[in-house]
Amino acid sequence: GKGTKVSWVCADCGYSNGQWWGTCLSCGGVGTMKQFSEAAHGGGGGSGSGIQVSEHVMRKWLPQAPGDVQPLRLTDVNRGINQLDWRIPLPGPFGSEVARVLGGGLAPGSLVLIGGDPGVGKSTLVLQVAALIAEGRRVGESAPVVYVSGEESLEQIVNRADRMMIGTGDLFLYSSTDIEDILAKIQNLSPHALIVDSIQTVYLKGVTGSPGGLTQVKECTSALLRFAKRTNVPVFLIGHVNKSGDIAGPRVLEHIVDVVLYMEGEKYSSHRLLRPVKNRFGSTDELGVFEMSESGLQVVSNPSEIFLSEQHSDSAVFAGLAVAVVMDGSRSFLIEIQALCVSGTTVLRHINGIQASRADMIISVLMKQAGLKLQENAIFLNVVSGVMLKETSGDLAIAVAICSSFLEFPIPNSIAFIGEIGLGGELRSVPRMEKRVNTVAKLGYKMCIVPKSALKSLAILGYEDIKIIGCKNLKEVINAVF
Ligand code: TYD
Ligand code: MG
Repeated sequence: GKGTKVSWVCADCGYSNGQWWGTCLSCGGVGTMKQFSEAAHGGGGGSGSGIQVSEHVMRKWLPQAPGDVQPLRLTDVNRGINQLDWRIPLPGPFGSEVARVLGGGLAPGSLVLIGGDPGVGKSTLVLQVAALIAEGRRVGESAPVVYVSGEESLEQIVNRADRMMIGTGDLFLYSSTDIEDILAKIQNLSPHALIVDSIQTVYLKGVTGSPGGLTQVKECTSALLRFAKRTNVPVFLIGHVNKSGDIAGPRVLEHIVDVVLYMEGEKYSSHRLLRPVKNRFGSTDELGVFEMSESGLQVVSNPSEIFLSEQHSDSAVFAGLAVAVVMDGSRSFLIEIQALCVSGTTVLRHINGIQASRADMIISVLMKQAGLKLQENAIFLNVVSGVMLKETSGDLAIAVAICSSFLEFPIPNSIAFIGEIGLGGELRSVPRMEKRVNTVAKLGYKMCIVPKSALKSLAILGYEDIKIIGCKNLKEVINAVF
């Protein structure tokens, strides 16, 4: 019909186009473009198989009828700086960590999507946040928060809350999958936040397709966005990452929502990372680090612990280990580089966690500029805990780890290395030197090797318990350490 607009949307990346393509023009996915039809703007009678959001829902959750609003003079717009910058506080160590990832607190009226693999801990995270918001107000003031679940029974949620010792009277639970019903029911409560767990279980009446299907998922998210904007109630939406079948992943929703946080974790580790991939209210350079405990998620105050191997903290030190300092968002981490050089075997290189071309370059510089006879060696390189080292600030630690293994000379575990290596073997400074050195000092390291050119900016800081050594090139580093 005339009122229906048909477009094709990639189920993997959300790219949309007016016509069908066998491969997605944006992400290159094969056969991922799925048909998606929506009522054209202005309502009107769409016919055929087009999707019609029910009039009732539209009227209720549309921000305002277009006729009500008049253009405003720039100088007449109420700036209300406090209003724009105001964030719902999330107190405590856990709350501060979540607030930092959100860009300095929870923005009123924001729609936040929490994505992640099933079982990673999304429900746990939002339940804790919900409890914080419900508890975090002044005494006597009520701050109701509604947790709507279409995933679990109320008993299951209560069991989880008990385990996490959450007992606030202002936390309301509701089991429903009908968006209209949910939004109607919570209105009387005037909640301070709404949680919908998960987008894959809810549906809108009058929209074709089953819950979890691309159309339902998109329409439900749009309805929740309208609700959030109209009422200023922040909404957390959980979405499972799921590539199989017809289930639309959270990726297609990234364009609609204000904030997208992905929760990551490895199967056999209790650590969980919370990473913003989109944020209308802050930077996406942040990274939240948590540990899943018996009683929910806890902040990891010293994330470097995760990235250093157990050998490192032992008094017995092995040859081939060196510590680098990397930045992730506004925070600096210590990570450990492991090298193993074996002579007299087949010459091969096995590199994990470091860009192969970068490693090749560093190995060549070590041979040419520092005189290391690595030609006859098999070289293995690894970054502990499966992190991918993307910064050149780790060059020096890589080089030193290789030297250490080659010379079979362990590096004392109280030394950290920061610096980029040039083709001439020279050391170059990297951004945020101060921040990196501060982290090293704070963690009790005794010595930090840095490029000589960075010394000037560091001298003013006047470190007491840590010795900062500036080196011009690899040869100087080798002389200082070995
Ligand atoms: P859950 O939040 O249900 O994951 P998701 O919503 O992403 O599917 O949490 C899943 C796992 O977390 C589950 O295997 C049990 C574990 N867990 C804990 O270890 N401690 C806790 O306090 C809680 C609530 C869960
Ligand atoms: Mg869950």
